Amino acid sequence: MNYKTKMAKRVLEMEKSAIHEMTSLSKKYSDVAFLSWAKPSSGTPEFIKTAAVDAINKGLADGYSTSSGILELREAICDKLESFNKINASPHEIISTTGAIEGLAAAIFATIDPGDEVILPDPTYSTHIRQVLLASGIPVLVPTLENEGFSLDIDAIRDAITPKTKAILYCSPANPTGAVFSEKQLRQLADIALENNLVVITDEAYESFIFDDYKHFSIASIDEMKPRTISCFTFTKNYAMTGWRIGYLHAHEDLIPQITKAHIPLTICPPVISQYAALAALRGSQDCITKFNKIYLEARNLMCDRLDELSAVFDYQKPRGSYLMFPRILTDDGQDSMVFCKKLLHNIQVSTTPGIAFGPSGESHLRLSFCVPSEMINDAFDRMDNYFSKK
Ligand SMILES: Cc1ncc(COP(=O)(O)O)c(C=O)c1O
Repeated sequence: MNYKTKMAKRVLEMEKSAIHEMTSLSKKYSDVAFLSWAKPSSGTPEFIKTAAVDAINKGLADGYSTSSGILELREAICDKLESFNKINASPHEIISTTGAIEGLAAAIFATIDPGDEVILPDPTYSTHIRQVLLASGIPVLVPTLENEGFSLDIDAIRDAITPKTKAILYCSPANPTGAVFSEKQLRQLADIALENNLVVITDEAYESFIFDDYKHFSIASIDEMKPRTISCFTFTKNYAMTGWRIGYLHAHEDLIPQITKAHIPLTICPPVISQYAALAALRGSQDCITKFNKIYLEARNLMCDRLDELSAVFDYQKPRGSYLMFPRILTDDGQDSMVFCKKLLHNIQVSTTPGIAFGPSGESHLRLSFCVPSEMINDAFDRMDNYFSKK
C-alpha cells in the first residue's frame, strides 16, 4: 500500500520527531540515566487528588461542562491572572483547555490562514513549530542571542517581518533553553506587534519557575496588547498535573468566540474531573509551587556544577527559568546533535534530547532536563565524566 497517497502533504513533509525517536531508542536499553524528561517528577499534591475524588463521588464529573469550562474555575483563573500575571480578566475572556497544548492549537487554528508566517524564536519548543505547520502556516525561525542567555534578537525579529507575517509565538521561560525574556524585551516585542498589526501567542507553561533575580512578565499585562494577545497557561508544571490535561487561555472578549470555534472541534471541553482538580489547585495552598521551585533551583545548580567539570565538552548558558538547559557541544563529533545523543545513549546509557529537534539554531546542542532526582543527575554526569576522560 502506498500510504503516501492517503496522507496530507503537510503531515508527510513534517520530519519525524527527534524527541520521540530518542524516547523509543531509550526503551531498548536497561539502566538508563534520563536527562531527557520534560515532565515534573513529583506527584500531584494530595489535596488536589482529594478534590477530584470528591467531585467524582458527587457526580460532578460525569457529563460535559460548557466548552469554556466551569464558571468557578474561570473565576479562580481570573484571580490568579490578576495577582500573578497582572492581567485584568473576566471569566468570559477565559477558555479552559486540554493542557496548554490544546489552547495553543486552538489559538493557532483560530488565527493562522494557510501561508501566513509565524515568527518564532530559534531554538524553541518543537510542538509550536509543528502546530504552525499543521495549520498550514509558515514557521519563520529567528535565531536568539545565545551569548545573552538565548534572549530575543529584537532587530532580527523586526527584519523578519514581511507582508505575510501574522503572528509571533514564543514561550518564556523557554523550552529548551531556560531563557526568560525580560520585560524590556517583551515591551519591544509588543511595539513590533502593534506597529505591524500582529497577533502574539504566548506559552507561559513555566511561569512559576524562575531563578535568581529574573522575573516573569506577561505581555498581555500591557493594556494595548490585550486585543491582540492570546496567552496560554497550564496546570501541568505548577501543580505537577501532567496527566490531568488541564490548562487555560486568556484573550480579549472579541477574540474568544472565534477561538472557541477552533477549541470545540479539538476537545469539546477539557476533562471535567480535571477542571475540579484545577479549581482546588488554585483555591488551595500554593506551597507546592514554592517547593518545586526550590527543588528545581537546587537541581539547576547541581547540573551547572557538574557541567563546569566537563568544560572541555560543553559550554552552557545558565538557565534563568524552566527546568531545562541547552548546553553547546564542543567536541569534534558534536556538530550532529542526533548522532551525539545516540552515542551517549549507546555507549553509556545516558538519555538526552538532540538540539536539532528545536530548530536549526539548536544544532550542536543538547537539551538536558534537571527535573529529575539529584541522584539521576549525578549518575548521568559520573558516566559522562568517565566516558569523556577516556576519549
Ligand atoms: C513550553 C511547553 N509548553 C507546553 C507544554 C505542555 O503543556 P500541557 O501539558 O499543559 O499541554 C510543555 C511540556 O513540556 C512545554 O515544555
